[in-house]
Amino acid sequence: MSNKNLGFSEFKEISTLRIQNNLEDVFNSYGSNSCDLLKPMKYTSLSGSKFIRSLLVYSSGSAFKIPFKLLDQISIAIELIHTYTLIHDDLPCMDNDDVRRGSPSCHIAFSESSAILAGDALQSLAFEILSRPKHNEIPAETYLKWVNYLASSIGLTGVAGGQYLDLLINGQDVKTDELEEIYNLKTAHLIKPCIMLPLMLSNHSKNDKIYKDLYKFGTLLGVSFQIKDDLLGCTSSSKTLGKTKNNDEIRNQPNFANILGIKETKKILEKNKKDMSEILSSNGFAETFLSDVSNYIFDRKF
Ligand code: IPE
Ligand code: IPE
Ligand code: MG
Ligand code: MG
Repeated sequence: MSNKNLGFSEFKEISTLRIQNNLEDVFNSYGSNSCDLLKPMKYTSLSGSKFIRSLLVYSSGSAFKIPFKLLDQISIAIELIHTYTLIHDDLPCMDNDDVRRGSPSCHIAFSESSAILAGDALQSLAFEILSRPKHNEIPAETYLKWVNYLASSIGLTGVAGGQYLDLLINGQDVKTDELEEIYNLKTAHLIKPCIMLPLMLSNHSKNDKIYKDLYKFGTLLGVSFQIKDDLLGCTSSSKTLGKTKNNDEIRNQPNFANILGIKETKKILEKNKKDMSEILSSNGFAETFLSDVSNYIFDRKF
């Protein structure tokens, strides 16, 4: 599945089915061997996600001509980590959100302690899967690089640090520059590995320009993804979003849409889209699924 011989919507469907099946297999493999903590882990992982990060992993892999089977560990690990961050993000001590992925949030369906521990266990499961030597085609050194890259993306200088700063600005006046850096940390730092980990399987990773440009592309994509989330939060409905509409307004949380207004926010997204398209063109990736997936992220309705 490394060539662009499918339409994007078919490719997206295949990617979604693949990650759903892979996640089910992972949880089933723990079935009889584990305690009930598995239930909240499965509950939030298996239903209602758009699985955009997996789509990005498979799209990047397709652009770099990497077979799907070599990308599965990456997509599983990133989706598990993403779910862990959402479970913790919804807790009363964080965004206090009762709805996630169209259902009661994990701490509502179970308990706060179960939600905290389910998040912890999902994070460690992600690294267990990512580090498992599975394919002879993948050198041991690459597994180590994957783990190192992902670990440094989600901690102090990545997602956790970004989430900390995000909570700190609650109720404050902030400039969009500051907000953009927080979005880079809390959101783009889990979007970039969806491109950079597949890149490590390709010879392109030795090309300095491609490496730096794709890193920049991932930053723009991740920040834009969060800005689009701000826009959808005020223009869409709770039912369509599967989470509380206007939650940032309710919580007095600054975001691009409530600082700049819808029109100016859309202009920023347009500029980012143009910059990203130029990066892909200048590196020969304009006709790949990386281009389709970025368009999809800008145009999405939920
Ligand atoms: C939600 O991410 C959190 C943000 C970074 C805005 P998604 O919109 O990808 O959530 P799911 O996985 O589809 O639920
Ligand atoms: C979700 O962020 C969690 C991370 C980005 C790590 P938000 O709080 O901005 O997103 P939603 O609206 O709850 O999905
Ligand atoms: Mg949050
Ligand atoms: Mg939130």
